[in-house]
Amino acid sequence: MRHYQRMLQQALRVSSRRTSPLLRWVEKWVESAASLKSSETRQVKTLDEMPGPSVCAFAWDLFAKRGLSRLHELQVEGRKRYGPMWKASFGPILTVHVAEPALIEQVLRQEGQYPMRSDLSSWKDYRQLRGHGYGLLTAEGEEWQTVRSLLAKHILPPRAVEAYDTTLNSVVTDLLEKLQLRCRQSPRGVVTDIATELYRFGLEGISSVLFESRIGCLDPQVPPETERFIQSINTMFVMTLLTMAMPGWLHRIFPKPWDTFCQCWDYMFQFAKGHIDQRLQEEAKRLAHGEEVEGRYLTYFLSRQGLPMKTVYSNVTELLLAGVDTISSTLSWSLYQLSRHPEVQASLREEVLGVLGTRRVPGAADVAQMPLMKAVVKEVLRLYPVIPANARVIADRDIHVGGYLIPRNTLITLCHYATSRDEKLFSNPDAFLPHRWLSKEQGHHPYASVPFGVGKRSCIGRRIAELELYLALSRILIQFDVKPDPEGAVVRPMTRTLLVPQTEINLKFIER
Ligand code: HEM
Repeated sequence: MRHYQRMLQQALRVSSRRTSPLLRWVEKWVESAASLKSSETRQVKTLDEMPGPSVCAFAWDLFAKRGLSRLHELQVEGRKRYGPMWKASFGPILTVHVAEPALIEQVLRQEGQYPMRSDLSSWKDYRQLRGHGYGLLTAEGEEWQTVRSLLAKHILPPRAVEAYDTTLNSVVTDLLEKLQLRCRQSPRGVVTDIATELYRFGLEGISSVLFESRIGCLDPQVPPETERFIQSINTMFVMTLLTMAMPGWLHRIFPKPWDTFCQCWDYMFQFAKGHIDQRLQEEAKRLAHGEEVEGRYLTYFLSRQGLPMKTVYSNVTELLLAGVDTISSTLSWSLYQLSRHPEVQASLREEVLGVLGTRRVPGAADVAQMPLMKAVVKEVLRLYPVIPANARVIADRDIHVGGYLIPRNTLITLCHYATSRDEKLFSNPDAFLPHRWLSKEQGHHPYASVPFGVGKRSCIGRRIAELELYLALSRILIQFDVKPDPEGAVVRPMTRTLLVPQTEINLKFIER
C-alpha cells in the first residue's frame, strides 16, 4: 500500500509543475489515507484513551451554558480542543464524536446490513409506551427494510419523483399568493418571520404528496388543528434533546419534559390518523360507486401493501414530520442568503428564466437543468445542515475507527456541522459561496458535507425535497425581488434537534 501511495505521489509531482487543486486534493487524500493506515497499524486504542470533557464539564456546558441549543457549536469547539474524535456523556449516554470526513466515511462503511441511527431514542420509548407502530425514522432491522424497499420505489427514482411536480407546483402557487397577501398587509412591505409561513408550506407540500389532497395550511385562515400540529412538532423537537439528556431519576423529579413530549406525539399521531382515515374513506366510497381509483399518493399506496394499519399510521406520521422543518428551514435560509447576496440572486433568476424561456412555471425536467440552483441549495445545506449531527449504532460487532476500537452498541455521533464549516475542507467556510460547487478546480471530500446522509439509511425524501425547493425558489425569484429587511439583523442558527434559525427572518418581497 505504502509503495503505491509513494509512486502515486511521485507521479503527481512530476506530472504537475503547476499543481492543480484537484491534484492537491488527491495528494492530500493519499497523505490522509497513509496517516490513517499508519495510525491503524499502530496499537489500537481503547475508549479509555480517547480524549473528551468530564461528565460534569459537559453537563455544565449543556445545561448551564445553554448548550442544548448550541450543540452544533460544541462540535466545532470539541474538534478544536480534542481533535477529530472525542467522547462525551450526553446525560446518561456515552457517545463518541467523529468530526473528520475520512473518519465519518469509515463509520458509515461499517454500518452493516440494517443501519441503525440510535437504539436509545426517546422517540422509540414513546411508541413502545403507547403501543404505536414504528415508521421509517424509528424502525429497525427487517421491519425497516420492508417499508424502505416499498417506499423507495415511489419516492427515490428521479422518474417517480417527476410525477409530483404538478401537485407540488399547485402548493407553490398558494405560497406565492400568501406572500403577496402578507406583503400587502404589511405597512413596510416586509414579511416577518418567514419561517412560520414556510412551515405551513412544508406541511402542505408533504401532505399533497402523502394524501394527494390539500389541507389548507396556506389558506388566509389557517385551520387551528394545522397550527397545533406544527406547534407539536416544534415542541417535540425541543423536548427530544432535553428528555434524552436527562438521566432517568431526573424524569421522576421533573416529569414535565417527558409528559409534554408524549402529548406532542399523541397529537401528531392523532392528526395523521384523522387525515389518513378520511382519505381512505373517500376512496372506499368511490370504489363502492364503481368509480376507478387511481391513487399515486403514498398513503393509498402504503395502505394497499398488506401492511398492518398501525404501520401505515406510524409511517405517514413520520413522513409528515420529516417533511415540515427540513423544507421550511432550508427554504428560509436560502431566501435569507439570496436576499443578502443580490448578485447570486440575479444570476440564479437569469438561469431560471433562461431555462424556461417564455414559460413561468417550471417542471421537474426544467429544474434538472439548473446547475446554479443545485449549487445554491448545496451551499445552504453546507452552511445550515438541517441535521447538524447524525448518529449510528453498530450493534453486531466492534469496529475500528481512526485507530480506536469502538465497542458494539456505542452511540457514534457524526459531526456534520463541524466538517461542513471546517476551513481545512472549505475555504472561507462561513461565507455563502455557491459557486464553489460549480468550480471543477475545487475538490471536496465526498463526506465533508452530506446533508441527506449517505448509504442505505440516507434520506428517503431527498428527491422530493430537492424538487420542492427548486420549484419554490424558481417561482419566488420569477415573481419577486427578495431583499433583506433594512431593520433586520444577522440571523444565526440554533439546534432544536434540527438546525433552525435562532431568531425571526424578515424579508421584503418586491413584486417584479
Ligand atoms: C432539505 C430537506 C431534507 C434534509 C436535509 C433531510 C435530511 C435527512 C437526513 C440527514 C436523514 C438521516 C440520514 C441518515 O441517517 O443517514 C434523513 C432521513 C429521513 N428523511 Fe430526510 N431530509 C429532508 C427532507 C425530507 C423530506 C421532505 C422527507 C419526506 C418525504 C424526508 C424523509 C426522511 C425519512 C423518512 C428519513 C428516514 C430514512 C430511513 O431511516 O430509512 N426527508 N433526512
